[in-house]
Amino acid sequence: MDISTTLNPTPVDDSTLAEILADPGFGDHFTDHMFTVEWTPEKGWHDARITPYGPLTLDPATSVLHYGQEIFEGMKAYRHDDGSVHLFRPEKNAQRMNSSARRLALPEIPEADFIAACEEIVKVDERWVPGSEGEKSLYLRPFMMATEKFLGVRPSRHVTFMVIASPAGAYFKEGLKPVDLWLTEEYSRAGRGGTGAAKTGGNYAASLLAQQEAYDNGCAQVVFLDSVEGRYVEELGGMNLYFVYADGSIVTPATGTILEGITRDSIITIARGLGHEVTERRFEIDEWRKGIESGDIVEIFACGTAAVVSPVGSMKSAQGVTPAPASTELTMKIRSALVDVQFGRAEDTQGWLTKVL
Ligand code: PLP
Ligand code: COI
Repeated sequence: MDISTTLNPTPVDDSTLAEILADPGFGDHFTDHMFTVEWTPEKGWHDARITPYGPLTLDPATSVLHYGQEIFEGMKAYRHDDGSVHLFRPEKNAQRMNSSARRLALPEIPEADFIAACEEIVKVDERWVPGSEGEKSLYLRPFMMATEKFLGVRPSRHVTFMVIASPAGAYFKEGLKPVDLWLTEEYSRAGRGGTGAAKTGGNYAASLLAQQEAYDNGCAQVVFLDSVEGRYVEELGGMNLYFVYADGSIVTPATGTILEGITRDSIITIARGLGHEVTERRFEIDEWRKGIESGDIVEIFACGTAAVVSPVGSMKSAQGVTPAPASTELTMKIRSALVDVQFGRAEDTQGWLTKVL
């Protein structure tokens, strides 16, 4: 893929950038450039370019605006203490983007081109990659959308893939305090044969009312159950879940209708490496309530790229409150093991890092 580059003539000035990087928040600030490549059935992927970051001009009939044919990814670039910059398992994001693409009837993008686009944005906007202090990073948001001007309902014949980037600090403003969760028993995120395993905007749109209910009940995230029986725990609005038992064994809900997280997958490897038995299986909401009551469940944590690893506190629902688990010890140990690899403080024994700079 040949990428043309047009540099931004008015990049953010150094002192404003320093202010932003001192406290980036999440998803509030965007770098000086963006990557774009387009697809048509006749030409395939073409016209790859880096241009100054800025608004898009879309015809009001552009199909993504009407039918939501869109997918996205989330990954981070980490700066190590020696100044080098690394992506964490970008090939996994590329593979998941393509599995989402297949489900949403969008064209696949070659894995190498996906990674090259992410690397190019990191290179051109290197000054936006924060230092490693405070575990800050540059969040990359690759996304693909239907950009044909057409109101019929069929897969789009014009598709646009872009990468934008945003410096990131903590996702939850409370920091590492356990997050309280709201269990929705009314709304589902995914159904059998649906798009739950794909990273597509519609899943997040479907989660927002329940997410608002979570906020209204003083909770930071919402827990979704399976849509058939309302009995099995699936995941949070934007994170996967883990349950730790007193005997050291660990359970995470099985896949199928959940988004298979790359953090989730990495933690299976890390926890097994620490000698823990990890099982992927269906997990009943009653096991959660009873496990806390009996003391068999000693820790619960949630994980994802944006929020890393976060201890879970209490779980609230219309039926009442299930108190927080007793401990966060293993959660913090697993969290450290993961971020130490990401920030180059521990050996990368699994070959998870791709050096960009
Ligand atoms: N589940 C959902 C619904 C998500 O949005 C995310 C975030 O990407 C995850 C799980 C965790 O996935 P990953 O670890 O790949 O970021
Ligand atoms: C991520 O962790 O990358 C996510 O996509 C979660 C949320 C910001 C949508």
